[in-house]
Amino acid sequence: MHVTHLSLTNFRNYGRLELPIPTGPILLHGHNAQGKTNLLEAIYYLATTRSPHTTQDSELINWSASQSQEPVIVGRLVAQVTTAAGERHLEMRLIQEQQGTVNGQSSFRREALVNRRKVRLMDLLGNLRVVMFLPEDMGLITGSPANRRRYIDITLCQIDPIYCQTLSQYNKVLEQRNALLRRLAEGLGGRDVLPIYDEKLVNLGSQLFARRTRFFSELAREAQRIHYEVLTGGRESIRVNYLPRLRGDLSNRQGDSEALTRLYDWLQQHQEDMAKITADYAQALAAARPTELARGSTTVGPHRDDWVVEVNGRDLSSFGSRGQQRSALLALKMAEIQWMANRTGETPILLLDEVVAELDEQRRELLLHYVEQATQALLTATDPAMFTNDFLQQATMLQVKNGRVLTGVNS
Ligand SMILES: Nc1ncnc2c1ncn2[C@@H]1O[C@H](COP(=O)(O)OP(=O)(O)OP(=O)(O)O)[C@@H](O)[C@H]1O
Ligand SMILES: [Mg+2]
Repeated sequence: MHVTHLSLTNFRNYGRLELPIPTGPILLHGHNAQGKTNLLEAIYYLATTRSPHTTQDSELINWSASQSQEPVIVGRLVAQVTTAAGERHLEMRLIQEQQGTVNGQSSFRREALVNRRKVRLMDLLGNLRVVMFLPEDMGLITGSPANRRRYIDITLCQIDPIYCQTLSQYNKVLEQRNALLRRLAEGLGGRDVLPIYDEKLVNLGSQLFARRTRFFSELAREAQRIHYEVLTGGRESIRVNYLPRLRGDLSNRQGDSEALTRLYDWLQQHQEDMAKITADYAQALAAARPTELARGSTTVGPHRDDWVVEVNGRDLSSFGSRGQQRSALLALKMAEIQWMANRTGETPILLLDEVVAELDEQRRELLLHYVEQATQALLTATDPAMFTNDFLQQATMLQVKNGRVLTGVNS
């Protein structure tokens, strides 16, 4: 799959951009703060409906446009995509409306279109699939569980629409259930509706547990293979472990992760047996009820999941060296590409932001080898000299300068 054309209007520092994009590797180069990362972000946003950075979506609209006096300001991202299933025209609109000139308040909303027809935001997903490499990806290993859950959701949503829909329903039920638990904790309201929420939560949550289990089994297998065979020459093996919160009395702390891993093993054995997962989850929820009533929040369920990478049986975030963490991360990302290709029959588009600079020569060559095999890959760098001659000969060079894209190295 690949993008053949990208149009941006009032997106970040791009006022107006019309960019035909070739296949193969593309190197976006240029000085700092010119718009290289913003270009990758635009493609990522069309694929996932999210920014890779935790910015507010309204921040994506070009600042000078959003400060104008116009009653409606629209940022637009449009991509023409070629896939094995045919051509697609994808569009995302970021709409800011001034509500009253007196207090300067404005509202923000988004619209998604596929082949020029309005669709739910969720239905944009799956039309364009990407794997992104960012310098801050290290946060997946060393950062918070919320980071890692976000990674699972964004990755799975790109290829599994049912997962995405279930997740959104689960989050709604969770919110309602938490509101009820808070009221009960304050001594307000009756308990009679709680079982209704419990049943919904358990049915939706069990689907998420099962789909995440399948995802991790497949991803872990690829990551393990790549890490062992390709990255460490048979010296080190990694394990990617899903830690499902299928019990309320366990936390993500070190001591409990063994018990959580056992729950993952159990889920792997029973991932096809939804009745069994549902029964187990319902039991765990019942056991957690006194705690949940006291705390006024839901303690069992996929919204509290986590995952870890282990090297030689130890948690990489606490015991790995920086180099080991970097290798594991690279294995994980390469596995993600392979996993998507296996599941969909097409290589996703690769987006690599400044990551090549961080790698040693051997890992750099391995990564560039992957990049060269992709149907389309966009890379950014301030200095093209860090790339191999071989790579530079294959790549299309595009210079990014103050919100414009120029072809050729010296233009
Ligand atoms: N909503 C916005 N409107 C206008 N400009 C923006 C907006 N959001 C970000 N910018 C600006 O866009 C510029 C380019 O950002 P970008 O991150 O793409 O640069 P870059 O070329 O990747 O630079 P670097 O090499 O430093 O990574 C930055 O100066 C940033 O302040
Ligand atoms: Mg950048």
